[in-house]
Amino acid sequence: MTKSIFKTVSMSAASALMLSLASCADNTQLIESPDGDIRLTFSLNEAGQPQYAVNFDGEDIVKTSTMGFELIDGSKIAENFKIDKVERSSSDSYWKPVWGENDSIRDNYNTMTVSMTDAAGIKMDIEFRVYDDGAAFRYIFPEQAAKTIQIKEENTQMAMGGDYTAWWIPGDYDTQEYEYNKSKLSEIRSFSDSDKMGNVAQTAFSPTGVQTSLMLKTPSGKYVNLHEAALIDYPAMHLDLNDTTLVFNSWLTPGRDEAKATVTTPFKTPWRVIMVSDKATDILASDIIYNLNDPCALDDVSWIHPTKYMGVWWEMITGKSSWAYTNAEDFDLATFDYSKAKPNGIHGANNENVKRYIDFAAENGFDQLLIEGWNIGWEDWFGKEKDFVFDFVTPYPDFDIQALNDYAHSKGIKLMMHHETSGSIPNYERHMDQAYDLMNKYGYDAVKSGYVGHILPKGETHYSQWANNHYLNAIKKAAEKKIMVNAHEAVRPTGLARTYPNLVGNESAMGTEYRQMSPGHEAILPFTRLKGGPMDFTPGIFRMDIGSFVPGSTEHKKATVANQLGLYVTMYSPLQMAADLPEHYAEKADAFQFIKDVPVDWSESIYIDAEPQDYIIAARRAKGGDSWWIGGIADENGKDYDLKLDFLEPDRTYTATIYADAPDAHYLDNPEAYAITTQEVRKDDIIPLHMVPGGGVAIAIK
Ligand code: NOJ
Ligand code: CA
Repeated sequence: MTKSIFKTVSMSAASALMLSLASCADNTQLIESPDGDIRLTFSLNEAGQPQYAVNFDGEDIVKTSTMGFELIDGSKIAENFKIDKVERSSSDSYWKPVWGENDSIRDNYNTMTVSMTDAAGIKMDIEFRVYDDGAAFRYIFPEQAAKTIQIKEENTQMAMGGDYTAWWIPGDYDTQEYEYNKSKLSEIRSFSDSDKMGNVAQTAFSPTGVQTSLMLKTPSGKYVNLHEAALIDYPAMHLDLNDTTLVFNSWLTPGRDEAKATVTTPFKTPWRVIMVSDKATDILASDIIYNLNDPCALDDVSWIHPTKYMGVWWEMITGKSSWAYTNAEDFDLATFDYSKAKPNGIHGANNENVKRYIDFAAENGFDQLLIEGWNIGWEDWFGKEKDFVFDFVTPYPDFDIQALNDYAHSKGIKLMMHHETSGSIPNYERHMDQAYDLMNKYGYDAVKSGYVGHILPKGETHYSQWANNHYLNAIKKAAEKKIMVNAHEAVRPTGLARTYPNLVGNESAMGTEYRQMSPGHEAILPFTRLKGGPMDFTPGIFRMDIGSFVPGSTEHKKATVANQLGLYVTMYSPLQMAADLPEHYAEKADAFQFIKDVPVDWSESIYIDAEPQDYIIAARRAKGGDSWWIGGIADENGKDYDLKLDFLEPDRTYTATIYADAPDAHYLDNPEAYAITTQEVRKDDIIPLHMVPGGGVAIAIK
């Protein structure tokens, strides 16, 4: 049912195709963005090595940077190239995503493909695209005598134009679950032995290695973001900084093979992307990553839908109940016989508790209810690196899968499946058909999967070529069975949800389950992690003092209630959870109303103002409707802002319900104080926003 993933994008201006060997005497090829502000130059240097540079508004954002590959046999695909031809064209079209921040996306760029052959006869093309919001390129190995290319390292440089400010997380082959550090590029190294922001900052492969998407700001105030798009059959790219020259070199994620990537010609690498703008809000609004991915490969997308859900989840995350049915010491691993096992008395996914959640979620208009810990194996999974832990089909004795699904369906909601693989990809692949078939049998249409722990087989990593192929395979297979996927601990997204829109979410960053991260974290994720696709961030925490319902816990969620509401707008996702417990929503029913009402799909989105890791204010118009939804979030410094309502239609009066921080609220010592007010508003009105430290605001305008 899926079409080829390597369809070429139709060129609306194919007639603009030009053929030339060189446009300047010195061999330099220039390609500009449609608005002329971004200029990318390409040439071969004296060694015949490809090189490029990116200039924005007269400033060298990326200085001359070389390109190429090192192979495991010691040879290179990097030098002694001759240009065979240069083809140029441009494209301007619109496409409609299945779900998204906007109902129509413009895809407007100039493109240039340089075809080259090196002295050994290897053919390589480099395809460039320059948009108004950034520049991108990928390597293409056309069909040729060399059938297999075994890549030791990709050597794509990104030479920074200065000592930019960077919001970065350390390079790591197994996790992206870090808080972000903010430093000058030249200061990254100093973080590797210290703990400046209270989080681990030791990189896996180099003291100056970082992950993408990497958010940067130049001394002149321009915003730059380095990422990749369409990561298919290839390892994820890290960036390794030479902090003397300020040159990044690509650093591919290794797996168990000597070659970091083994590719079969014809082959296209993922796109290397440099987003650039003089406004922070343009980085948030940029669709360049999706635009660089192939169009939807699924013929039928009618079964894919945005979803608001609750879960039997936060109670396990906070330690109130357990995923496991028994205590590990009361369980016989040899027989897996639960009929003889003694229940531990705190198993969350039991029939009675699940029914309680179903009732609450259904009464409050949710679409689905996630249940974790429904299946056998949780006594013996974490950190064990065992091939077989879960079979993904056998429920615990106190979870009646048929009856609970029937009950949920009778109330108009669906249960959401959970597959924790514990990193054992071989075991998951062996069980995937039966696992998905079980979902079809009982009427589940969405799965949260997870890859906690080291990837098996040993030597593989979370973002290797092999692991990345598994994640995509799981998505494609799910599509065949009409199943939506939300994968945790999988590789960071690179826009593949355009091609496979059943990939409705990923984690791939530090989410609410970490509970105690600093308030600026939510104000950096939309600049970084979310550039590749939506995140299952799981907002909506209303009880910040975890000890108030989990005896002995000293954990404190660093946010206010209004901040948690604002996230439903600032943190775009077609899959939004209300993560807290039903009883905590019941005790703040007036604030909960916002979570019940807020849409999860949009016709139009406007990023009003933002600064990475400081604050974000966004406005979105409900899909196909005329109600507007505003969200604001602030870091530990708070933020005051005069919100102009100029996006409203003229000559109309709307009713605005404002969910604000109480004036004396504070994320540390008064997090649950909020105030809800209602007022009439018109297009020329201004609403003064007062977001306290760690606070936020949410506004429904109807
Ligand atoms: C980590 C996931 O991020 C979390 O949401 C899940 O509950 C646990 N793994 C257990 O699968
Ligand atoms: Ca996780």
